[in-house]
Amino acid sequence: MRSVIHFVFFFIIVFNEAQVNGTLNNKRFPDDFKFGVATASYQVEGAWNEDGKGENVWDQVTHRVPSPIVNNDTGDVACDSYHKYKEDVAMLKDLGVDFYRFSISWSRILPTGFANEINEAGLQYYKNLVKELRANGIEPLVTIFHWDQPQPLEDLGGWTNDIIIDQFVDYARILFRELGNEVKYWLTFNEPKQTCNQGYGTAQKAPLITSPGMGEYLCTHNLLRAHAKAWRLYDEEFRQEQQGTIGITIDTPWFEPFSNSTADIEAAETKLQFTFGWYTNPIVYGDYPSVMQTNIARRSAQQGFKESRLPQFTEEEKAYIKGTYDFLGVNVYTTFLVSSTDEPDPSMGLDEDSEVLDWQPDDWESTASSWLKVVPWGMRKLVTWIKNTYDNPKIMITENGYSDNGTLEDDGRISYYERYLSSLRDAMELDGVDVIAYTAWSLMDNFEWMQGYSEKFGLYHVDFNSPNRERTAKKSALWYKNLLETRCLVEECVD
Ligand SMILES: *[C@@H]1O[C@H](CO)[C@@H](O)[C@H](O)[C@H]1NC(C)=O
Ligand SMILES: *[C@@H]1O[C@H](CO)[C@@H](O)[C@H](O)[C@H]1NC(C)=O
Ligand SMILES: *[C@@H]1O[C@H](CO)[C@@H](O)[C@H](O)[C@H]1NC(C)=O
Ligand SMILES: *[C@@H]1O[C@H](CO)[C@@H](O)[C@H](O)[C@H]1NC(C)=O
Repeated sequence: MRSVIHFVFFFIIVFNEAQVNGTLNNKRFPDDFKFGVATASYQVEGAWNEDGKGENVWDQVTHRVPSPIVNNDTGDVACDSYHKYKEDVAMLKDLGVDFYRFSISWSRILPTGFANEINEAGLQYYKNLVKELRANGIEPLVTIFHWDQPQPLEDLGGWTNDIIIDQFVDYARILFRELGNEVKYWLTFNEPKQTCNQGYGTAQKAPLITSPGMGEYLCTHNLLRAHAKAWRLYDEEFRQEQQGTIGITIDTPWFEPFSNSTADIEAAETKLQFTFGWYTNPIVYGDYPSVMQTNIARRSAQQGFKESRLPQFTEEEKAYIKGTYDFLGVNVYTTFLVSSTDEPDPSMGLDEDSEVLDWQPDDWESTASSWLKVVPWGMRKLVTWIKNTYDNPKIMITENGYSDNGTLEDDGRISYYERYLSSLRDAMELDGVDVIAYTAWSLMDNFEWMQGYSEKFGLYHVDFNSPNRERTAKKSALWYKNLLETRCLVEECVD
C-alpha cells in the first residue's frame, strides 16, 4: 500500500509539469539503447590517503595553502564512496540503470605512478565494486583516467613529459589484466581538453600550470599517443579473450554560428575543430585538423618560433593513432555562439590560436555553473555534426547534466534532461545518428573541482555536513527511474 501511495504521489508531482509537452519527442528509445549515470574517482571516493594510496595532482592542489578551491574544499572524504560503494550500487539498482560509469584512481593502484609495485588493497577496492555491480546486473563502464595523475609523475612534468606514455600504458595493462574479465566497456581518457588546456595552458584545473599555447599542445601530443598505445594494447593482447570494447571520451559544447554569414559559419567550424577535432581528427583520420596546423604554424612563425608550437606526428605515428576507437564517448552540456573577427588576439593560447570569438548571451537560461547555459537544441546539432564529420561513428553520450544549489525539488534538472534527451532522440530518429548510450552526470552531488561543493549535479543529494554522507533521492532521481522503466519522454510513446 505504501508503495502504491508513493507511486501515485510520484506520478502526480513528476508528471504534472513534464507531461504531454508537445515539444518533446514521443518515440520510445530503442530496446538496445543503454542508460547510465557517471561519477569520477577524485570527485566521490574520498579515502585520499588510505590503504596505501599515493598522492595525485588533485590531492596536491586541494591541500595548498592558501587553497585555490572555493571554500577551501577538498576531496579528502568527498562522498566517501571508498567505504560506501555498496550503498552507491544500491542506489544504481534502485534507479534501474543499465550501466555505471566510474573512473579508477591511478594512485590507488600504483602509488608512485610507476608499475614496479602494485597496491593490492587499491586494486581490491575496484574488484569489489565491479563484483557488486555485476551481482546487481549493472554493467561497469570504466574510465581509466579522469584527471588525477600521480603527483610523482607530475613532478617530472606530468603530461608534458613523454615518459608518461609508457607509464599510462603499464597502468592500463594492469587494469585490463586484473579487471578485464568483468569489464567490457573501457574509456582511456575523460575530457582530455580539460586535462591539457585547463591543466597545462590556462591553470584552471590541476596541476594549475600556466603555459598557454605551449603546455596544452605538448600535453595533448603525449596523451593522444598514450591513448593510441593503450587502445592497441587492448586490441592486440586482450580483446580476443575478453571480448570488450574501448573508446575515449571527448568533451565539447555545440558552437553555433552567430549569423548566417560565410565568415561566421566558418568560424564556428574552426572552433569545433580546435575543441573536438583537436582529439577526434587524429583518432579518426590520423592527424590534427588542418585549420589548427595552418593557424598555429603561421602564428608561431610570427611570434619568432623556429617551429610550430603544435607538435607534429611522424607518418608512422599517424598510421598508429588512426582508427584507435570502437566508439566515441561525448560529454556535452551546453552551447556557445561563434563569430569571426578582423582583429584576432595575437597572444599565445588555444583560444587565441583559433582566431574566432565565442560567448553565451546573458539571456540564455542559466544554471549554478557560469559556463553552463541550458540550450537543448545544441545536443541534436552536435551529434549530427559528429556523424557527418567523422564517418558516422557509434556515439555514447558519456556525460550530460545540470547544476544547481542541491535542492531536492530539482525541477530545473528534470526539465533539462527532458529537453536534451528529446533533442538527442530527434537526432537518432530524424538524422540517423548512431547513438548507443546516454549517461547522466551525475549519480550524486560531489566534489566539483575548483568549485568544491558549491555546484551540485547529482540525481541524489549527499549531506556533506554529516560524517555518514547520507544520500537522498532528489525529484530528478525519481524522474530518471521512471524514464528508464518507460524509455519514453512523454506520457505515451510510439515505438
Ligand atoms: C514545454 O514546452 C515549452 C515550449 O513550448 C517550454 O517552454 C517548456 O520549458 C517545456 N516544458 C518542459 C517541462 O520541458
Ligand atoms: C580558507 O583558508 C584560509 C587560510 O588559508 C582562511 O584564511 C580562510 O578563512 C578559509 N576560507 C574558508 C571559506 O574557510
Ligand atoms: C540562418 O538561416 C536559417 C535558414 O534560412 C534560419 O532559420 C536562421 O534563423 C538563420 N540564422 C540566423 C542567425 O540568422
Ligand atoms: C535552491 O534552489 C531552489 C530552486 O531554485 C530554491 O527554491 C531554494 O530557495 C534554493 N535554496 C537555497 C539555499 O538557495
